Amino acid sequence: MSKKEDLEKIAEEIKNCEECKRSKFGLPVPGEGSPNAKIMFLGEAPGINESKIGKPFVGKSGKFLNKLLESIGIKREEVFITSPVKYYPGKRAPTNEEISHGMVHTWKQIEIINPKIIVLLGNVAIKGTLGKNYKISEIHGKPIKKDGRIYFPTFHPSAARRFPKIRKLVEEDFKKLKKIINNLS
Ligand code: URA
Repeated sequence: MSKKEDLEKIAEEIKNCEECKRSKFGLPVPGEGSPNAKIMFLGEAPGINESKIGKPFVGKSGKFLNKLLESIGIKREEVFITSPVKYYPGKRAPTNEEISHGMVHTWKQIEIINPKIIVLLGNVAIKGTLGKNYKISEIHGKPIKKDGRIYFPTFHPSAARRFPKIRKLVEEDFKKLKKIINNLS
């Protein structure tokens, strides 16, 4: 099977996952993008807009993410975008259980895509991939090498959109990300 077919299989698993469906809000959001992406973006959990159409980052945070990508010359189609949690949990942060469960699907996607860099957009993505002993305020903008990949933590676009200080930090982090991407072999 091709990477595209493998990803479609995981997307089907996510859409039919009883555990994920417990949250009962709208459609599941498996993620989208290139099966051959060198860069993968992990958010938090879909919001109400995403769960209406089953696509990631289509609301206000998505528009902000698009601008950030554009600012460093990256096209959305060339990366893969998803979130650790695949269903809208409602107006609350995802629980640790929801994150661990969603990561079972997400690790499968990571394994198939095999990206060189995983950009961690906020605490949920950091917790899901690196564990809970990291403070975003200390590690944002600093690449972490682990298991043959680079994990690049920064803040979630929704925080960047709302708080000018965080927006500045994220914009600086994206410039650092661009340099790392340019140096990829
Ligand atoms: N925020 C996320 O973390 N993921 C989405 O898909 C949309 C908003």
